[in-house]
This record gives sequence, structure tokens and C-alpha cells, in this order.
Amino acid sequence: MPEDREARIRAFDAAATDFERLGHHLWDPIGAATVDVTSPRAGERVLDACCGHGASAVPAARRVGADGLVDAVDVSAPMIDLLNRRADGISQLRARQGDVTSWPRGDYDVVQSALGIFFFPDMDAGTEQLIGRARPGGRVGLTIWRRGAMDAAGDHLRAAVARVTGTEPADRPARRPIDRINQPDTYEAWLTERGLADVTVTEHDLRIPTTPDVAWLIVTGSGYVAALDDLGPDQVEAVRDAYLESLRRDGVDEIDATTLIGLGTRAH
Ligand SMILES: C[S@@+](CC[C@H](N)C(=O)[O-])C[C@H]1O[C@@H](n2cnc3c(N)ncnc32)[C@H](O)[C@@H]1O
Repeated sequence: MPEDREARIRAFDAAATDFERLGHHLWDPIGAATVDVTSPRAGERVLDACCGHGASAVPAARRVGADGLVDAVDVSAPMIDLLNRRADGISQLRARQGDVTSWPRGDYDVVQSALGIFFFPDMDAGTEQLIGRARPGGRVGLTIWRRGAMDAAGDHLRAAVARVTGTEPADRPARRPIDRINQPDTYEAWLTERGLADVTVTEHDLRIPTTPDVAWLIVTGSGYVAALDDLGPDQVEAVRDAYLESLRRDGVDEIDATTLIGLGTRAH
């Protein structure tokens, strides 16, 4: 596993508790919107990839009911612990820790992943692998950030870390694989190239008000928490103040959290 990937996964381990608190504002509405699109039916078998604390896995399990099955897979053990607590009593939901790009089972009626595929070290190959877990004709729904979503939080956080540590602000990561596909037309074409037929892309608009608590949760409850890795408690406190002040000064009263939900059927 490449080092930067390990760091990103560790970030989710570190963020697990605040991840759950942020879920109400961010992960849960996006998970619910994903399931509205994939629309699992009673008795169906679903693979929920990169399940986190179950934002899409739990509503999918409710839809398939006791005769169905949801395999929910995440590489982070703390996330699986959160999901096991949340899913207590939902017998059709099986939470499993592992790298979903090497998940052995297949033939699912629905394969879905909310905000997961861009973490794969090879996004194209990993997504093809996921699509291959669906039965021929099965539905595959994959949710990604729309271009520009969440950027304001990252930009103001990087500026705040630079101010507190007396360093140059880090640039926004260049040439992320997601940047070539994060608009509706490019996403539709890319999913078709990966082996999906009849692809549609739904935009799910979401704006998160930047009250101090929620704006800081966006950092501590997501992969952004990695930016605080090497800082002591006083520095983290100072970054929090600088970040909130920077958002306020620029008049950022909401963070764009809009997603693209791609849906298609496995063509072959
Ligand atoms: C942004 S979170 C989204 C979680 C969840 N789908 C939700 O919407 O709440 C991304 C998740 O992907 C997981 N992840 C990243 N790469 C993975 C992989 N190769 N296999 C399984 N899980 C992975 C992380 O551990 C993290 O929990």
C-alpha cells in the first residue's frame, strides 16, 4: 500500500468519532441520496463499498429487509466498529473490515459506494473491480464530489495551518484523479468506459452552514484531519481559531458539499 494511501486511511481511523458527529450534516444526507438512486428492493443483495459508519449501508439494509443482504466493507477498523454499533439488530447487514478492491464475493444485485472510489490507489482499475462485483444487469451507483465541492474548507484549513506553523501555504493537491471526472458529462463518459450501460448522473445539492462547531467538524470528522497530524494541542487550537477567522473574514457562510451520483447497469 503506498505511503500516502496509508496516511489517508489512518486519517479516517483518527476521525472516526467526529466522523459520526459530522454524519448528521454531511455523510448521512449523501448516503441517503445515493440509496434513493440505487433503490435497493426487498430481498436484493447489495455490496456497499467504503461503507464508513453506514450512511448508505444502513438505509440500503432497511430497504432490502430481512430477506435481503447488505455486505458493507471498509478498510478502517474504527469505522466498522461504529457501523456494528449503529447496525445492532439489523441482521441483514454484515459489516466487514477489508480492502474492497480485493473483495472476493460477487453477483450482487446492487453495488454502491458513497464517496469512496477516489481513495483507490488506481481509481479506474478499482472501480472496474467494483463494477465486476455486480451480476450482469445489476445496478451500480457511485457517488463522488462535484468539482469545487469541499474546496473552501481545504483552502482555508491549509492557510490556517501555514499561518500557525509559519510555513508557506501548501497548494491544493494538483492533478487528483477525480479532477478529470467530477462534472456530469465527464463522469457519465468515464463510467461508461468502465463497463456500465445506460448511465445517468444525478446532482445532489447540499450546502453546510459554517457555524463554528460544524465548520471545525468538517476538519476533524473527515480526511482533512490529516493536516493536523504533526501539530501539538496548542497548535491545533490555534489552527481552529485561524481557520474559523479565515472563513468569517472571507464571508464563507456555507460549504458546498454537492455530489454527483452515477448510476448504470453492469453491461457484461
Ligand atoms: C469519505 S468516507 C465515506 C464513508 C461512507 N461511504 C459514507 O458516506 O459515510 C471514505 C471511506 O472509504 C474508506 N476506504 C478508502 N479506501 C478503501 C478501500 N480500498 N476499501 C475499503 N474502504 C476504503 C475509508 O476508510 C473511509 O471510511
